[in-house]
Amino acid sequence: MLDISALRVGYGQGDVLTDVSFGLPKGVSGCLLGRNGAGKSTVMRSIMGFLRPSAGEIRFGNESIVGRTPDRVARSGIGYVPEDRAIFPNLSVEENLRVTRPCGPQPMDLAGIYDLFPILAERRRQAAGTLSGGEQQLLSVGRALMGGPSLLLLDEPSEGLAPLVIRSLGDDIRRLRQAGLTILLAEQNIEFARSVSDVVFVLDRGQICFQGTFDELERDPDLKHRHLFVGHVKSKVA
Ligand SMILES: Nc1ncnc2c1ncn2[C@@H]1O[C@H](COP(=O)(O)OP(=O)(O)O)[C@@H](O)[C@H]1O
Ligand SMILES: [Mg+2]
Repeated sequence: MLDISALRVGYGQGDVLTDVSFGLPKGVSGCLLGRNGAGKSTVMRSIMGFLRPSAGEIRFGNESIVGRTPDRVARSGIGYVPEDRAIFPNLSVEENLRVTRPCGPQPMDLAGIYDLFPILAERRRQAAGTLSGGEQQLLSVGRALMGGPSLLLLDEPSEGLAPLVIRSLGDDIRRLRQAGLTILLAEQNIEFARSVSDVVFVLDRGQICFQGTFDELERDPDLKHRHLFVGHVKSKVA
């Protein structure tokens, strides 16, 4: 469903991704793991068309989507929940949901979203800025689903949320996966990633340095240490 090959992308001063290749079959949930600054969000922004790769290919379905504008990528069927959630704090929950035009392969309406996430129905008239962090995350996911995506990109959905809220978000993501949605998430929280993903791609130094299952990753402590944990420990000390 999603096929990325030899992707090279940067922000002007050197490349952040030098040679990223991985693929995600339909209905599979995959996770990009990597330290802070590894380039996880850069991969997502490239898929969405916010960044223009200098080399490589991104295929979705059977088409190349490199060079498409973000709204065209969205209309092709890719939903995007960015790192900062991009909620409009002064608009109501319902107005935030209406920002996305139902247009993708499986468009959803407000009733469908409220069915999936009843808390959003309860809060429909409330200003989005007054929601809790977990509720804002659900709102951002709900807004992406309004577009009727067949692939959903979730950029660090668990970030800043309390453990109980993360658990409930995990339940929601697993329900979406069971409903047949293909999911790509970026995470630094390995336990959470493991609870919602089938396959893992570890991003380091501009490339995917490991891909496989979480069990395979667990069997290689050295790999985890080198590519994931070292940065974690350092950033906690700093
Ligand atoms: N808008 C930007 N302009 C310049 N450099 C950026 C920008 N956004 C991210 N970067 C750099 O690209 C690298 C990867 O960032 P990012 O994709 O956000 O990493 P991650 O999501 O894995 O934490 C970092 O070194 C970061 O400083
Ligand atoms: Mg990021």
